Amino acid sequence: MRSHDTVAVLDFGSQYSQLIARRVRENHVYSELLDPRTPPARLREMGARGIILSGGPSSVYHDAAPTCDPGIFELGIPILGICYGMHVACRILGGDVRAGAAREYGRVRLQIGRPEGVLAHLPAETSVWMSHGDIVTQVADCFEPLAHTDACPIAVVRHKQRPVVGVQFHPEVTHTPQGTQIIRNFLYDLCGCRGDWRVEDVIETAVERVRRQVGPEERVICGLSGGVDSSVTAALVHKAIGDRLICIFVDNGLLRRREAELVEATFCGHFGMQLRVAQAAERFLSRLAGVLDPQQKRRIIGHEFIQVFKDEATAIAGARFLAQGTIYPDVIESGHGHAGHTAVIKSHHNVGALPAELGFELVEPLRLLFKDEVRQVGLALGLPEDLVWRHPFPGPGLAVRIAGDITPERLELLRSADEILLEEITAAGWYGKIAQAFAVLVPVASVGVMGDGRSYEGQSLIVLRMVESSDFMTADWVHIDYDVLARISNRIINEVPGINRVAYDVSSKPPSTIEWQ
Ligand code: XMP
Repeated sequence: MRSHDTVAVLDFGSQYSQLIARRVRENHVYSELLDPRTPPARLREMGARGIILSGGPSSVYHDAAPTCDPGIFELGIPILGICYGMHVACRILGGDVRAGAAREYGRVRLQIGRPEGVLAHLPAETSVWMSHGDIVTQVADCFEPLAHTDACPIAVVRHKQRPVVGVQFHPEVTHTPQGTQIIRNFLYDLCGCRGDWRVEDVIETAVERVRRQVGPEERVICGLSGGVDSSVTAALVHKAIGDRLICIFVDNGLLRRREAELVEATFCGHFGMQLRVAQAAERFLSRLAGVLDPQQKRRIIGHEFIQVFKDEATAIAGARFLAQGTIYPDVIESGHGHAGHTAVIKSHHNVGALPAELGFELVEPLRLLFKDEVRQVGLALGLPEDLVWRHPFPGPGLAVRIAGDITPERLELLRSADEILLEEITAAGWYGKIAQAFAVLVPVASVGVMGDGRSYEGQSLIVLRMVESSDFMTADWVHIDYDVLARISNRIINEVPGINRVAYDVSSKPPSTIEWQ
């Protein structure tokens, strides 16, 4: 296994911490988020070439504010403190941090007095993104300021003897146009990184790891959902152990049209994997009959899924391992978060997650990858583009997109409308620009004109929802072309009997959620 330069990000809980690690990786240097109290010995042991102290929501002068071990400044490893990280570094090494008199938030002009070190190759003035009310007000003689803004005299500071730099703003966000240059300066000039990390290298390493973990005889089970993470996991594990991987796909009757077919064609047909499809639609639908409450629907689906999966899995002789598509943000958000980390944990039940009592040892080859990296790995492994770039689809499927009772007829109505929506946005070139697009069936008695009379009978409303979002924690509705909307609406009303009205949802998250229920 090759070893790569690594830059550690000590995570003080900023909403941008993951972004810092991603930016570093985009510059071909491997990066991981660590607890801010990670001991210096551990950082040395992992061979960190650089350390970045992230931003964070706290104020360093508060008692419970997170800090790092002062010993990290003795390691001789270059350190970049960003915002709160800069405050921590300056306080430990001799500086004062206070609430700024005039608070600067958002875009601010940075005046660069000395374009050196992390500021090399930058113009004398540039715009940067600020998001903290505190600033460093004073530094000891061992520091030299390199840049300032109107309200912040020490916006960039460098230690004279040690390789320590602090920036008050966020170079990791796109609102700081020179941010990439600053990060590159840190990685290449200050840390001396070689930039030898490529996401494709992950494949080789992951394949080796899976082989080592599973051994030469054992079999692995993988639950496919049709989504990107489980698909890439299956493709990776298959590359490692071939036929000893057995995939299980549960058709719960709540899927989009032709979903099961697509999964079979890709994994059985294209990759020649062993795939068991559990036809469980009837079982799910009978349990859901008459259930109106969306959370109750989720619970039933989650419970049934585990039962069906368990039955399938226990029928596979000699399988001790379960491959799961856990990715890096899941790892960070589910309790491995670091001090002060306030990640919002998705509250809904993810039916892909299986309880520990199933007794399998987990194989999680994507544990350290971000979503965009998972996609790149998927492409490198030969997964079809449309699968790799798919919008997410919730575990409980169409059940949470039908208000009220779930019946086979309503599911068919929704599938037809949903299919038209996806066809039209794909044809118009919008699919890739949208984070998630779907239809919702609202079975209200909406009035329609039937011949000469008004009719309320059996007619339903379809709501179209299309959002743009980078992390699904916040989202905005897509300002899609009216003519695309018109085509979708015309086709749904003409082609789907039972639908006489189509509406477009123009709500943002927050306060609305992406799904309707
Ligand atoms: P919300 O509706 O919470 O959705 O804004 C955020 C993202 O989560 C998906 N979602 C779910 N995924 N089980 C899932 O596996 C669920 O119960 C569930 N509910 C919402 C939603 O599709 C969006 O991508």
